[in-house]
Amino acid sequence: MSHRTMRDFLAVLEQRGLLRRITKPVDPLWEPAALAKWMYQGLPAEQRFGMYFEKVMGSDIPLVTGALGASPATYALALGVEVDGINDAWVNAARNPIQPKVIDQALCQEVVMTGNDVRLSYLPIPVWTPGKDAGRYITTNVVTKDHDTGIQNMGVYRTMVCDETSVACNLHIGRHGFQNMFTWTDKGKPMPIAWVISAPPVVHLSSVALLPYGVDEITLAGGAMGAAINMVRAKTVDLLVPADAEIIIEGEVHPGEMTAEGPFGEFAGYMGGVVQRNVARITAITHRKNPIYYGLTSQMPPSESTTLQSIVNAGLLLKRLRDDMGESSISDVFIDLTFAGVMGHVIIAMKPGYPAHAKKVGRLVAAMTALKRVTVVDNDIDIRDSSHIDWALNARFNPSRDTVLIDDVFFNLDPSVGPSDMGSKIICDATAKVDAGAFSLPPKDIMMKALKSWKEIGLPEFDIPKRARYRIDRS
Ligand SMILES: Cc1cc2nc3c(=O)[nH]c(=O)nc-3n(C[C@H](O)[C@H](O)[C@H](O)COP(=O)(O)O)c2cc1C
Repeated sequence: MSHRTMRDFLAVLEQRGLLRRITKPVDPLWEPAALAKWMYQGLPAEQRFGMYFEKVMGSDIPLVTGALGASPATYALALGVEVDGINDAWVNAARNPIQPKVIDQALCQEVVMTGNDVRLSYLPIPVWTPGKDAGRYITTNVVTKDHDTGIQNMGVYRTMVCDETSVACNLHIGRHGFQNMFTWTDKGKPMPIAWVISAPPVVHLSSVALLPYGVDEITLAGGAMGAAINMVRAKTVDLLVPADAEIIIEGEVHPGEMTAEGPFGEFAGYMGGVVQRNVARITAITHRKNPIYYGLTSQMPPSESTTLQSIVNAGLLLKRLRDDMGESSISDVFIDLTFAGVMGHVIIAMKPGYPAHAKKVGRLVAAMTALKRVTVVDNDIDIRDSSHIDWALNARFNPSRDTVLIDDVFFNLDPSVGPSDMGSKIICDATAKVDAGAFSLPPKDIMMKALKSWKEIGLPEFDIPKRARYRIDRS
């Protein structure tokens, strides 16, 4: 089971040696983000960790980043499963969503600041691409709701700090927060909005799930937790917010009030432009005593954002293909961890049942998602091992026969496509279509005998990679 609070999770992460405390005072205008950039650019995933900045200049509140998404290992711990169990956990959560439970007394409201007490500089909000960004922004779950149905939504939308009491939330066209906004502003009403900081880990992990409009991500979080997520009524706006979060910011988006937002570092690895976004006025900051501020790292990949978005959406895609599209031949789905679960590379493992079955699955995935490259392989390929995928693409893929190109795709933010151009997608069917004969490895009994000799000789120990297991099992 996952952890009830972010604080409980951070304690477990620290026990496992996956959280580093930084005691040196850091300047939020450049230091935490630049240090986090070194972690992602300098260290392989197995060596990364959550960063806990104990002293952030200008605020009494510590700042944490990377704890959820530094690597698949931190992610699995946040979800409360082993790394190999992540996809199953999301499939189960999507099959068994749980409605939240409303409570009266909440940790996140131990301290309530309203009116003149509201000051965003109270929080250790960093600059994420120092030297290039337009200013500080919040990266956390944003709660909104549809005026007419009352159904809430959670998504992570970058939120620029304008001054002590106003922000601009980067609600992109098509996002559910954006759709919700118009159900209010079209009627001339302000939209209630809340930012949920340092929530129970499953709430953060679920927030970036691409669910249909009208399905609240908090129900997926409940499914992942195996229990209802506690919610409490916000103090100054008509919204329910996760009760066990460390900090909540409440506010209202006012119709027609716009400001310039950006430039900011984008998830694809380039700086974005300046856009016009709606202004929200902050009405309250509530928090647990001695709160912890969590900021998700994005910008140049790999990042915490790309890990979080790729992993949950791979699990949900597997569920949709198997349960909703009836493609039971599919055994696994992996989205590369470097492109935010959108516009990136998805690899599907399956047992094709008829000619061009893999191409059909590839077309389905291309149509259902914003992923740009779809590679389909057989079940004997480890889809998390890029060298094994490359082997399949070299040994089982004949480009002129096995490629499907899809034109006229609109990708917002694809840096390979000019502002007035359309993007495209590619499907590579790398499943075996001809009988190429036996593998060029000794048979399994000889390989296992050799492994015993290896140990007797005292050669260096190693864990047999999945790639080798799959090959030896067939040899
Ligand atoms: C750190 C981080 C920052 C993000 N920033 C934005 C953003 O500024 N605007 C946006 O539309 N999506 C952003 N996303 C992606 C959305 O949160 C994600 O696609 C989510 O599923 C959208 O929820 P929705 O489909 O309910 O709108 C961000 C994700 C992360 C992890």
